[in-house]
Amino acid sequence: MTSSLPFATSQVLLSDDDAIEHLLDLSFGPTRRSKTSYRLREGSTAVRGLSLLVRDSALGVVGAISYWPLAIGARGTRALLLGPLAVHPERQNLGIGLLLMRETLAAAKILGHKLVLLVGDAPYYGRVGFSQVPEGQLLMPGPVDAKRLLYVELVPGALAEAQGLMMAAHQFAG
Ligand SMILES: CC(C)(COP(=O)(O)OP(=O)(O)OC[C@H]1O[C@@H](n2cnc3c(N)ncnc32)[C@H](O)[C@@H]1OP(=O)(O)O)[C@@H](O)C(=O)NCCC(=O)NCCS
Repeated sequence: MTSSLPFATSQVLLSDDDAIEHLLDLSFGPTRRSKTSYRLREGSTAVRGLSLLVRDSALGVVGAISYWPLAIGARGTRALLLGPLAVHPERQNLGIGLLLMRETLAAAKILGHKLVLLVGDAPYYGRVGFSQVPEGQLLMPGPVDAKRLLYVELVPGALAEAQGLMMAAHQFAG
């Protein structure tokens, strides 16, 4: 895809897996898998078409984003979990993170997704429209700082339909 930035995004290929894992270790450290967000990805496959990366001729994969299917509460309301989003330490503050989010959020909307959730820094994700989920509306399967549980609606009113425990979509018994 094209943008006014000197970077282009491309779809993640299976052959990119090792480079992405390396980037995530570099960005979040080796303890990243103990985070509650990872419980929501176990046994799941990232949503097709929404895993993007940015390549750099010198450093290889320097940015990556993916999304995971969720079901929420007794009704199993569908949503996406954004993340991880990571940008190589030597390529941060160049707009790569925002580019990856803007492109994928627009694509998610076109694909018909209604609600996106994530755990992250509100001042950063607020730049692409994320806000804090009202405390107590959603529960995660482990500890999380409520101020860091954020949402953006791709369809107005989507958050109101989501109430209760967040699960990986495949865990929802229906
Ligand atoms: C967080 C991260 C994805 C941002 O990607 P990036 O490509 O460097 O960010 P962008 O270039 O798109 O945006 C840069 C802007 O966001 C701001 N920003 C970056 N991280 C921020 C944060 N955690 N909180 C608030 N603002 C932040 C920068 O100060 C900069 O502001 P400016 O435009 O006013 O100069 C990247 O730094 C990263 O992978 N960090 C390691 C993982 C991490 O710390 N995650 C925490 C967020 S959950």
